Amino acid sequence: MVCSLLILIVCVSAIADERTPVQGREAFGQPLAGLSTDELESFFRGRSLFRQSWVVAPAKDTLVGLGPLYNRISCASCHPKNGRGRAPENETERMQSMLVRLSVAGKDEHSAPKPHPIYGNQLNEEGVPGVPGEGIASIKWQEFEMALAAGTRVPMRKPLLSFYDLHYGPLDKVQTSMRVGSPVFGLGLLQSVAQTDLENFEKDVKSNGVKGKINWVWNAETQEIAVGRFGLKANNPSIRTQILDALIGDLGITSHLHPNENCMPLQVECLKAPSGNNPEFSDAQLADVEFYFLDVAAPARRNSDDPVVQKGETIFREIGCAQCHRETLHTEKNNQLPHLSELEIHPYTDLLIHDMGSGLADNREDFGASGRDWRTTPLWGIGLTQLISESQSYLHDGRARTLTEAILWHDGEAKISREKFAALSRVKRDAFETFLLSL
Ligand code: HEC
Ligand code: HEC
Repeated sequence: MVCSLLILIVCVSAIADERTPVQGREAFGQPLAGLSTDELESFFRGRSLFRQSWVVAPAKDTLVGLGPLYNRISCASCHPKNGRGRAPENETERMQSMLVRLSVAGKDEHSAPKPHPIYGNQLNEEGVPGVPGEGIASIKWQEFEMALAAGTRVPMRKPLLSFYDLHYGPLDKVQTSMRVGSPVFGLGLLQSVAQTDLENFEKDVKSNGVKGKINWVWNAETQEIAVGRFGLKANNPSIRTQILDALIGDLGITSHLHPNENCMPLQVECLKAPSGNNPEFSDAQLADVEFYFLDVAAPARRNSDDPVVQKGETIFREIGCAQCHRETLHTEKNNQLPHLSELEIHPYTDLLIHDMGSGLADNREDFGASGRDWRTTPLWGIGLTQLISESQSYLHDGRARTLTEAILWHDGEAKISREKFAALSRVKRDAFETFLLSL
Protein backbone atom coordinates (compact mmCIF):
# COMPACT_ATOMS: atom_id res chain seq x y z
CA MET A 1 0.00 0.00 0.00
CA VAL A 2 2.70 2.45 1.07
CA CYS A 3 4.74 1.28 -1.90
CA SER A 4 1.96 1.81 -4.41
CA LEU A 5 1.24 5.21 -2.92
CA LEU A 6 4.89 6.13 -3.33
CA ILE A 7 4.88 4.97 -6.93
CA LEU A 8 1.79 7.05 -7.60
CA ILE A 9 3.45 10.15 -6.21
CA VAL A 10 6.64 9.48 -8.16
CA CYS A 11 4.64 9.03 -11.38
CA VAL A 12 2.66 12.18 -10.78
CA SER A 13 5.74 14.24 -9.96
CA ALA A 14 7.47 13.05 -13.11
CA ILE A 15 5.04 15.06 -15.26
CA ALA A 16 4.94 18.17 -13.06
CA ASP A 17 7.18 21.23 -13.24
CA GLU A 18 7.21 23.79 -10.46
CA ARG A 19 3.56 23.02 -9.90
CA THR A 20 1.99 19.76 -8.89
CA PRO A 21 -1.08 18.64 -10.81
CA VAL A 22 -2.26 16.79 -7.69
CA GLN A 23 -5.61 18.24 -6.69
CA GLY A 24 -7.56 17.73 -3.52
CA ARG A 25 -6.61 17.99 0.13
CA GLU A 26 -2.98 16.89 -0.37
CA ALA A 27 -2.26 19.47 -3.09
CA PHE A 28 0.04 21.56 -0.82
CA GLY A 29 2.33 18.67 0.15
CA GLN A 30 3.66 17.23 -3.11
CA PRO A 31 7.30 17.02 -4.24
CA LEU A 32 8.70 18.95 -7.20
CA ALA A 33 9.42 17.01 -10.35
CA GLY A 34 12.80 15.44 -10.95
CA LEU A 35 13.75 14.15 -7.47
CA SER A 36 15.80 10.94 -7.28
CA THR A 37 14.74 8.02 -5.07
CA ASP A 38 17.20 9.09 -2.35
CA GLU A 39 15.95 12.64 -2.54
CA LEU A 40 12.35 11.51 -2.28
CA GLU A 41 13.28 9.53 0.85
CA SER A 42 14.74 12.67 2.41
CA PHE A 43 11.62 14.59 1.35
CA PHE A 44 9.34 12.09 3.10
CA ARG A 45 11.56 11.95 6.23
CA GLY A 46 11.35 15.75 6.39
CA ARG A 47 7.61 15.64 5.92
CA SER A 48 7.21 13.18 8.83
CA LEU A 49 9.36 15.34 11.10
CA PHE A 50 7.17 18.31 10.22
CA ARG A 51 3.99 16.37 11.01
CA GLN A 52 5.02 14.31 14.04
CA SER A 53 4.39 15.20 17.67
CA TRP A 54 7.28 15.85 20.06
CA VAL A 55 7.43 14.51 23.62
CA VAL A 56 8.73 15.91 26.90
CA ALA A 57 12.22 14.90 28.14
CA PRO A 58 13.30 12.51 29.55
CA ALA A 59 11.78 9.80 27.34
CA LYS A 60 12.88 6.96 25.11
CA ASP A 61 11.70 8.36 21.80
CA THR A 62 13.29 9.87 18.71
CA LEU A 63 11.50 13.20 19.08
CA VAL A 64 12.32 14.20 22.66
CA GLY A 65 12.69 17.71 24.01
CA LEU A 66 9.39 19.55 23.68
CA GLY A 67 9.47 22.76 25.75
CA PRO A 68 10.02 23.57 28.61
CA LEU A 69 7.89 26.41 27.16
CA TYR A 70 6.14 25.98 23.84
CA ASN A 71 3.03 26.72 21.77
CA ARG A 72 2.15 23.46 20.03
CA ILE A 73 3.54 19.90 20.04
CA SER A 74 4.03 19.64 16.27
CA CYS A 75 4.95 21.98 13.45
CA ALA A 76 1.94 20.95 11.42
CA SER A 77 -0.51 22.09 14.13
CA CYS A 78 -0.12 25.65 12.86
CA HIS A 79 0.33 24.66 9.20
CA PRO A 80 -2.39 22.00 8.76
CA LYS A 81 -2.03 20.19 5.40
CA ASN A 82 0.72 22.78 4.69
CA GLY A 83 -2.06 25.34 4.51
CA ARG A 84 -2.92 28.34 6.65
CA GLY A 85 -3.82 28.38 10.31
CA ARG A 86 -6.79 30.33 11.59
CA ALA A 87 -7.75 32.87 14.21
CA PRO A 88 -10.07 31.92 17.10
CA GLU A 89 -13.77 32.62 16.54
CA ASN A 90 -14.33 34.35 19.88
CA GLU A 91 -12.76 35.47 23.16
CA THR A 92 -13.05 32.11 24.85
CA GLU A 93 -11.55 29.98 22.09
CA ARG A 94 -7.81 29.31 22.46
CA MET A 95 -5.37 30.03 19.64
CA GLN A 96 -4.90 26.74 17.76
CA SER A 97 -2.70 27.71 14.85
CA MET A 98 -1.41 31.20 15.49
CA LEU A 99 0.95 32.93 17.87
CA VAL A 100 1.70 36.32 19.37
CA ARG A 101 5.16 37.85 19.02
CA LEU A 102 6.30 40.09 21.87
CA SER A 103 8.92 42.80 22.15
CA VAL A 104 9.66 46.13 23.77
CA ALA A 105 10.54 49.44 22.07
CA GLY A 106 13.94 49.59 20.39
CA LYS A 107 15.98 47.04 18.46
CA ASP A 108 18.75 44.61 19.27
CA GLU A 109 22.29 44.93 17.85
CA HIS A 110 21.17 43.40 14.54
CA SER A 111 17.96 45.48 14.23
CA ALA A 112 15.76 42.58 15.31
CA PRO A 113 12.90 43.36 17.71
CA LYS A 114 14.06 43.57 21.33
CA PRO A 115 12.61 40.67 23.34
CA HIS A 116 10.46 41.41 26.37
CA PRO A 117 12.76 41.09 29.43
CA ILE A 118 10.49 38.55 31.15
CA TYR A 119 8.46 36.86 28.42
CA GLY A 120 10.99 36.83 25.56
CA ASN A 121 9.98 37.28 21.92
CA GLN A 122 6.86 35.14 21.77
CA LEU A 123 4.06 34.21 24.16
CA ASN A 124 4.49 30.50 24.87
CA GLU A 125 1.10 29.49 26.17
CA GLU A 126 2.13 25.97 27.20
CA GLY A 127 4.67 24.52 29.63
CA VAL A 128 5.83 20.96 30.32
CA PRO A 129 4.75 19.43 33.70
CA GLY A 130 6.13 21.64 36.50
CA VAL A 131 6.70 24.63 34.23
CA PRO A 132 3.80 27.10 34.06
CA GLY A 133 2.84 28.29 30.60
CA GLU A 134 3.35 32.02 30.15
CA GLY A 135 -0.32 32.93 29.84
CA ILE A 136 -3.20 32.96 27.38
CA ALA A 137 -3.80 35.32 24.48
CA SER A 138 -7.39 36.06 23.57
CA ILE A 139 -9.01 37.83 20.62
CA LYS A 140 -12.23 39.80 20.78
CA TRP A 141 -13.66 40.85 17.43
CA GLN A 142 -14.86 44.35 16.72
CA GLU A 143 -17.43 44.13 13.95
CA PHE A 144 -18.17 46.77 11.32
CA GLU A 145 -19.13 47.02 7.65
CA MET A 146 -17.62 48.37 4.46
CA ALA A 147 -19.34 49.19 1.18
CA LEU A 148 -18.78 47.98 -2.37
CA ALA A 149 -20.29 49.45 -5.54
CA ALA A 150 -24.01 48.79 -6.15
CA GLY A 151 -24.83 48.91 -2.45
CA THR A 152 -23.22 45.64 -1.36
CA ARG A 153 -22.27 45.69 2.34
CA VAL A 154 -19.37 43.55 3.54
CA PRO A 155 -19.16 42.48 7.20
CA MET A 156 -15.63 43.05 8.51
CA ARG A 157 -13.94 42.34 11.84
CA LYS A 158 -10.87 43.74 13.60
CA PRO A 159 -9.06 41.79 16.33
CA LEU A 160 -8.61 43.23 19.82
CA LEU A 161 -5.92 41.34 21.71
CA SER A 162 -5.80 40.79 25.45
CA PHE A 163 -3.93 38.46 27.78
CA TYR A 164 -5.05 36.56 30.85
CA ASP A 165 -3.55 34.09 33.34
CA LEU A 166 -0.15 35.72 32.89
CA HIS A 167 2.12 33.63 35.06
CA TYR A 168 5.28 35.74 35.15
CA GLY A 169 3.88 39.18 35.96
CA PRO A 170 2.33 41.96 33.89
CA LEU A 171 3.08 42.45 30.21
CA ASP A 172 3.40 46.24 30.39
CA LYS A 173 4.69 48.39 27.54
CA VAL A 174 4.80 45.38 25.34
CA GLN A 175 4.59 45.45 21.56
CA THR A 176 2.63 42.58 20.08
CA SER A 177 2.19 41.02 16.65
CA MET A 178 -0.49 38.38 16.07
CA ARG A 179 0.44 35.99 13.27
CA VAL A 180 -1.41 33.04 11.81
CA GLY A 181 0.61 30.09 10.49
CA SER A 182 1.12 30.70 6.79
CA PRO A 183 0.83 28.21 3.92
CA VAL A 184 4.16 26.38 3.46
CA PHE A 185 4.70 25.24 -0.13
CA GLY A 186 6.76 26.56 -3.02
CA LEU A 187 9.28 28.00 -0.54
CA GLY A 188 12.34 26.54 -2.30
CA LEU A 189 11.23 28.29 -5.46
CA LEU A 190 10.85 31.60 -3.64
CA GLN A 191 14.27 31.15 -2.02
CA SER A 192 15.73 30.59 -5.50
CA VAL A 193 14.65 33.93 -6.98
CA ALA A 194 17.84 35.96 -7.55
CA GLN A 195 18.53 38.76 -5.10
CA THR A 196 19.22 41.07 -8.07
CA ASP A 197 15.65 40.46 -9.31
CA LEU A 198 14.28 41.62 -5.96
CA GLU A 199 16.59 44.65 -6.08
CA ASN A 200 15.19 45.45 -9.52
CA PHE A 201 11.60 45.12 -8.27
CA GLU A 202 12.51 47.57 -5.55
CA LYS A 203 13.87 50.07 -8.10
CA ASP A 204 11.03 49.55 -10.57
CA VAL A 205 8.95 52.74 -10.60
CA LYS A 206 5.33 51.88 -10.00
CA SER A 207 2.31 54.14 -10.23
CA ASN A 208 -0.33 55.08 -7.68
CA GLY A 209 1.97 55.34 -4.66
CA VAL A 210 3.09 51.71 -4.72
CA LYS A 211 6.73 51.36 -3.58
CA GLY A 212 7.88 48.18 -1.91
CA LYS A 213 11.26 47.45 -0.37
CA ILE A 214 13.51 44.60 0.61
CA ASN A 215 13.57 43.79 4.31
CA TRP A 216 17.28 43.45 5.07
CA VAL A 217 17.58 41.11 8.06
CA TRP A 218 20.27 39.34 10.07
CA ASN A 219 21.05 35.74 9.17
CA ALA A 220 22.13 34.32 12.54
CA GLU A 221 23.47 31.17 10.90
CA THR A 222 25.77 32.74 8.29
CA GLN A 223 26.33 35.81 10.49
CA GLU A 224 25.59 38.31 7.74
CA ILE A 225 22.97 40.76 6.60
CA ALA A 226 20.66 39.13 4.07
CA VAL A 227 17.46 39.65 2.10
CA GLY A 228 14.43 38.63 4.16
CA ARG A 229 12.00 36.44 2.23
CA PHE A 230 10.08 34.35 4.75
CA GLY A 231 7.73 35.24 7.57
CA LEU A 232 4.86 37.68 7.27
CA LYS A 233 7.15 40.71 7.33
CA ALA A 234 9.88 38.99 5.28
CA ASN A 235 11.67 38.89 8.62
CA ASN A 236 13.54 35.66 7.97
CA PRO A 237 16.28 35.15 5.37
CA SER A 238 16.22 31.43 4.68
CA ILE A 239 14.24 28.24 4.96
CA ARG A 240 16.94 26.93 7.34
CA THR A 241 16.75 29.81 9.79
CA GLN A 242 12.96 29.83 9.57
CA ILE A 243 12.91 26.15 10.61
CA LEU A 244 15.49 26.66 13.38
CA ASP A 245 13.64 29.70 14.75
CA ALA A 246 10.31 27.83 14.67
CA LEU A 247 11.85 24.87 16.50
CA ILE A 248 13.03 26.94 19.45
CA GLY A 249 10.29 29.59 19.37
CA ASP A 250 7.19 27.46 18.77
CA LEU A 251 8.16 24.03 20.17
CA GLY A 252 11.10 24.72 22.50
CA ILE A 253 13.42 22.40 20.54
CA THR A 254 17.15 23.24 20.64
CA SER A 255 19.47 23.00 17.62
CA HIS A 256 23.04 23.95 16.66
CA LEU A 257 21.84 27.53 16.09
CA HIS A 258 19.80 27.78 19.31
CA PRO A 259 21.58 25.44 21.77
CA ASN A 260 19.89 26.85 24.90
CA GLU A 261 16.31 26.19 25.96
CA ASN A 262 13.93 29.12 25.50
CA CYS A 263 13.84 30.19 29.15
CA MET A 264 14.20 33.83 30.18
CA PRO A 265 16.40 34.58 33.25
CA LEU A 266 13.45 34.91 35.67
CA GLN A 267 11.72 31.70 34.52
CA VAL A 268 13.30 29.46 37.16
CA GLU A 269 11.15 26.35 36.67
CA CYS A 270 11.92 26.51 32.96
CA LEU A 271 15.67 26.80 33.60
CA LYS A 272 15.58 23.74 35.87
CA ALA A 273 13.52 21.47 33.58
CA PRO A 274 15.31 18.49 31.94
CA SER A 275 16.35 18.70 28.29
CA GLY A 276 16.46 16.05 25.57
CA ASN A 277 19.50 15.39 23.36
CA ASN A 278 22.12 18.08 23.02
CA PRO A 279 20.94 19.52 20.72
CA GLU A 280 17.40 18.15 20.55
CA PHE A 281 17.23 18.57 16.77
CA SER A 282 20.16 17.05 14.90
CA ASP A 283 21.75 18.48 11.77
CA ALA A 284 20.61 15.35 9.90
CA GLN A 285 17.00 16.07 10.88
CA LEU A 286 17.48 19.68 9.83
CA ALA A 287 18.79 18.58 6.44
CA ASP A 288 15.64 16.50 5.86
CA VAL A 289 13.19 19.21 6.90
CA GLU A 290 15.10 21.79 4.86
CA PHE A 291 15.04 19.45 1.86
CA TYR A 292 11.32 18.95 2.35
CA PHE A 293 10.61 22.69 2.24
CA LEU A 294 13.00 23.27 -0.64
CA ASP A 295 11.04 20.77 -2.67
CA VAL A 296 7.37 21.12 -1.83
CA ALA A 297 5.76 22.17 -5.12
CA ALA A 298 3.05 24.76 -5.56
CA PRO A 299 -0.35 23.55 -6.73
CA ALA A 300 -1.32 23.90 -10.40
CA ARG A 301 -3.89 26.46 -11.48
CA ARG A 302 -7.35 25.37 -12.47
CA ASN A 303 -9.54 26.65 -15.32
CA SER A 304 -6.98 29.18 -16.50
CA ASP A 305 -8.36 29.10 -20.05
CA ASP A 306 -11.94 29.81 -18.96
CA PRO A 307 -12.85 33.20 -20.53
CA VAL A 308 -14.39 34.44 -17.24
CA VAL A 309 -11.13 33.63 -15.43
CA GLN A 310 -9.19 35.46 -18.13
CA LYS A 311 -11.45 38.48 -17.82
CA GLY A 312 -10.82 38.47 -14.06
CA GLU A 313 -7.08 38.24 -14.66
CA THR A 314 -7.18 41.33 -16.90
CA ILE A 315 -9.01 43.24 -14.15
CA PHE A 316 -6.39 42.05 -11.62
CA ARG A 317 -3.70 43.71 -13.73
CA GLU A 318 -5.79 46.80 -14.57
CA ILE A 319 -6.58 47.71 -10.97
CA GLY A 320 -2.97 47.40 -9.87
CA CYS A 321 -2.98 44.18 -7.83
CA ALA A 322 -0.13 42.79 -9.94
CA GLN A 323 2.13 45.71 -9.00
CA CYS A 324 2.76 43.89 -5.73
CA HIS A 325 1.30 40.43 -6.39
CA ARG A 326 3.69 39.82 -9.33
CA GLU A 327 2.57 36.94 -11.44
CA THR A 328 5.87 35.77 -12.90
CA LEU A 329 9.25 35.37 -11.24
CA HIS A 330 12.28 33.29 -12.27
CA THR A 331 14.58 31.06 -10.28
CA GLU A 332 18.38 31.28 -10.56
CA LYS A 333 20.62 28.68 -12.12
CA ASN A 334 21.39 26.08 -9.46
CA ASN A 335 23.74 23.21 -10.26
CA GLN A 336 23.41 21.58 -6.82
CA LEU A 337 19.62 21.54 -6.92
CA PRO A 338 18.79 21.25 -10.63
CA HIS A 339 15.09 20.73 -9.96
CA LEU A 340 14.95 24.33 -8.64
CA SER A 341 17.08 25.76 -11.43
CA GLU A 342 15.97 28.31 -14.05
CA LEU A 343 12.22 27.91 -13.74
CA GLU A 344 9.49 30.38 -14.53
CA ILE A 345 7.19 30.45 -11.51
CA HIS A 346 3.87 32.18 -10.81
CA PRO A 347 3.66 32.97 -7.11
CA TYR A 348 1.87 36.37 -7.32
CA THR A 349 4.28 38.13 -4.98
CA ASP A 350 7.28 40.46 -5.26
CA LEU A 351 8.65 39.27 -1.90
CA LEU A 352 8.91 42.93 -0.91
CA ILE A 353 7.40 44.65 2.10
CA HIS A 354 4.80 47.38 1.63
CA ASP A 355 3.17 49.98 3.86
CA MET A 356 -0.38 48.63 4.15
CA GLY A 357 -1.79 51.45 6.27
CA SER A 358 -2.81 51.83 9.88
CA GLY A 359 -5.72 49.33 9.89
CA LEU A 360 -3.37 46.38 9.35
CA ALA A 361 -0.46 47.83 11.34
CA ASP A 362 0.94 45.92 14.31
CA ASN A 363 3.01 49.00 15.20
CA ARG A 364 6.02 46.76 15.79
CA GLU A 365 9.23 47.09 13.81
CA ASP A 366 10.88 43.95 12.52
CA PHE A 367 14.35 44.63 11.05
CA GLY A 368 13.69 47.05 8.15
CA ALA A 369 9.91 46.58 8.30
CA SER A 370 7.93 49.32 10.00
CA GLY A 371 4.84 48.67 12.08
CA ARG A 372 2.75 49.19 8.92
CA ASP A 373 4.80 47.04 6.55
CA TRP A 374 3.92 43.49 5.50
CA ARG A 375 5.34 41.17 2.84
CA THR A 376 3.17 40.75 -0.25
CA THR A 377 1.53 37.41 0.43
CA PRO A 378 2.00 34.91 -2.42
CA LEU A 379 -1.44 34.19 -3.86
CA TRP A 380 -0.65 30.85 -5.52
CA GLY A 381 -2.89 28.14 -4.14
CA ILE A 382 -5.26 30.67 -2.55
CA GLY A 383 -8.21 29.29 -4.54
CA LEU A 384 -7.76 25.91 -2.79
CA THR A 385 -8.13 27.38 0.69
CA GLN A 386 -11.74 26.29 1.17
CA LEU A 387 -10.89 22.76 0.15
CA ILE A 388 -7.73 22.35 2.22
CA SER A 389 -8.08 24.54 5.29
CA GLU A 390 -10.50 24.29 8.17
CA SER A 391 -11.65 27.83 7.53
CA GLN A 392 -10.74 30.82 5.43
CA SER A 393 -8.57 33.03 7.58
CA TYR A 394 -6.70 35.52 5.43
CA LEU A 395 -4.15 38.25 6.22
CA HIS A 396 -1.37 38.08 8.81
CA ASP A 397 -3.71 37.63 11.77
CA GLY A 398 -6.49 35.70 10.05
CA ARG A 399 -9.01 38.52 10.45
CA ALA A 400 -10.46 38.22 6.93
CA ARG A 401 -13.04 35.46 6.42
CA THR A 402 -13.42 36.02 2.68
CA LEU A 403 -11.15 37.20 -0.13
CA THR A 404 -13.30 40.32 -0.44
CA GLU A 405 -12.70 41.17 3.22
CA ALA A 406 -8.95 40.64 2.74
CA ILE A 407 -8.87 43.04 -0.21
CA LEU A 408 -10.94 45.67 1.60
CA TRP A 409 -8.30 45.81 4.36
CA HIS A 410 -5.70 46.91 1.78
CA ASP A 411 -4.68 50.50 2.48
CA GLY A 412 -1.48 52.58 2.47
CA GLU A 413 0.38 51.78 -0.76
CA ALA A 414 -2.52 49.56 -1.85
CA LYS A 415 -5.26 52.14 -1.20
CA ILE A 416 -5.89 53.09 -4.85
CA SER A 417 -5.97 49.46 -5.92
CA ARG A 418 -8.49 48.69 -3.17
CA GLU A 419 -10.67 51.66 -4.19
CA LYS A 420 -10.69 50.44 -7.79
CA PHE A 421 -11.70 46.98 -6.58
CA ALA A 422 -14.53 48.40 -4.45
CA ALA A 423 -15.82 50.34 -7.47
CA LEU A 424 -16.05 47.29 -9.78
CA SER A 425 -19.48 46.39 -11.12
CA ARG A 426 -21.09 43.20 -9.85
CA VAL A 427 -20.29 41.33 -13.08
CA LYS A 428 -16.64 42.37 -13.06
CA ARG A 429 -16.33 41.52 -9.38
CA ASP A 430 -17.66 38.03 -10.01
CA ALA A 431 -15.14 37.47 -12.84
CA PHE A 432 -12.41 38.84 -10.59
CA GLU A 433 -13.26 36.42 -7.81
CA THR A 434 -13.47 33.51 -10.28
CA PHE A 435 -9.90 34.38 -11.32
CA LEU A 436 -8.67 34.44 -7.70
CA LEU A 437 -10.27 31.04 -7.14
CA SER A 438 -8.34 29.65 -10.13
CA LEU A 439 -4.99 30.37 -8.42
C1 HEC B 1 2.24 28.20 17.04
C2 HEC B 1 2.08 28.13 15.61
C3 HEC B 1 3.26 27.65 14.78
C4 HEC B 1 3.97 26.49 14.93
C5 HEC B 1 3.82 25.43 16.00
C6 HEC B 1 4.90 26.45 13.83
N1 HEC B 1 4.73 27.55 13.02
FE1 HEC B 1 5.69 27.91 11.25
N2 HEC B 1 4.81 29.73 11.15
C7 HEC B 1 3.92 30.23 12.08
C8 HEC B 1 3.73 31.64 11.82
C9 HEC B 1 2.85 32.57 12.63
C10 HEC B 1 4.51 31.97 10.69
C11 HEC B 1 4.76 33.36 10.11
C12 HEC B 1 6.03 33.77 10.87
C13 HEC B 1 6.37 35.21 10.97
O1 HEC B 1 5.78 36.07 10.37
O2 HEC B 1 7.32 35.49 11.69
C14 HEC B 1 5.17 30.73 10.30
C15 HEC B 1 6.02 30.61 9.20
C16 HEC B 1 6.68 29.46 8.83
C17 HEC B 1 7.45 29.29 7.62
C18 HEC B 1 7.67 30.35 6.56
C19 HEC B 1 6.50 30.46 5.61
C20 HEC B 1 6.62 31.65 4.70
O3 HEC B 1 5.97 31.68 3.64
O4 HEC B 1 7.32 32.60 4.99
C21 HEC B 1 7.99 28.03 7.67
C22 HEC B 1 8.90 27.38 6.66
C23 HEC B 1 7.56 27.44 8.90
N3 HEC B 1 6.73 28.32 9.58
C24 HEC B 1 7.95 26.19 9.34
C25 HEC B 1 7.66 25.69 10.60
C26 HEC B 1 8.31 24.54 11.19
C27 HEC B 1 9.40 23.72 10.55
C28 HEC B 1 7.74 24.35 12.41
C29 HEC B 1 8.10 23.34 13.46
C30 HEC B 1 9.45 23.36 13.94
C31 HEC B 1 6.72 25.38 12.56
N4 HEC B 1 6.71 26.18 11.46
C32 HEC B 1 5.87 25.47 13.65
C33 HEC B 1 3.30 29.53 13.08
C34 HEC B 1 3.75 28.31 13.57
C1 HEC C 1 0.96 47.70 -2.33
C2 HEC C 1 1.05 46.28 -2.56
C3 HEC C 1 -0.23 45.51 -2.73
C4 HEC C 1 -1.24 45.72 -3.64
C5 HEC C 1 -1.35 46.81 -4.69
C6 HEC C 1 -2.19 44.66 -3.43
N1 HEC C 1 -1.77 43.84 -2.41
FE1 HEC C 1 -2.73 42.22 -1.72
N2 HEC C 1 -1.41 42.07 -0.18
C7 HEC C 1 -0.31 42.88 -0.01
C8 HEC C 1 0.28 42.63 1.27
C9 HEC C 1 1.51 43.31 1.83
C10 HEC C 1 -0.51 41.65 1.89
C11 HEC C 1 -0.36 41.07 3.30
C12 HEC C 1 -1.15 41.94 4.28
C13 HEC C 1 -1.34 41.35 5.65
O1 HEC C 1 -1.19 40.14 5.83
O2 HEC C 1 -1.64 42.10 6.58
C14 HEC C 1 -1.55 41.30 0.93
C15 HEC C 1 -2.52 40.32 1.14
C16 HEC C 1 -3.47 39.96 0.20
C17 HEC C 1 -4.41 38.87 0.35
C18 HEC C 1 -4.49 37.91 1.53
C19 HEC C 1 -3.63 36.70 1.23
C20 HEC C 1 -3.57 35.69 2.34
O3 HEC C 1 -3.14 34.57 2.04
O4 HEC C 1 -3.90 35.98 3.48
C21 HEC C 1 -5.17 38.85 -0.79
C22 HEC C 1 -6.29 37.88 -1.10
C23 HEC C 1 -4.72 39.93 -1.62
N3 HEC C 1 -3.69 40.57 -1.00
C24 HEC C 1 -5.26 40.24 -2.85
C25 HEC C 1 -5.01 41.45 -3.50
C26 HEC C 1 -5.80 41.93 -4.60
C27 HEC C 1 -6.94 41.18 -5.23
C28 HEC C 1 -5.30 43.14 -4.94
C29 HEC C 1 -5.84 44.12 -5.96
C30 HEC C 1 -7.16 44.67 -5.64
C31 HEC C 1 -4.18 43.40 -4.06
N4 HEC C 1 -4.05 42.36 -3.19
C32 HEC C 1 -3.38 44.52 -4.13
C33 HEC C 1 0.16 43.81 -0.91
C34 HEC C 1 -0.59 44.34 -1.96
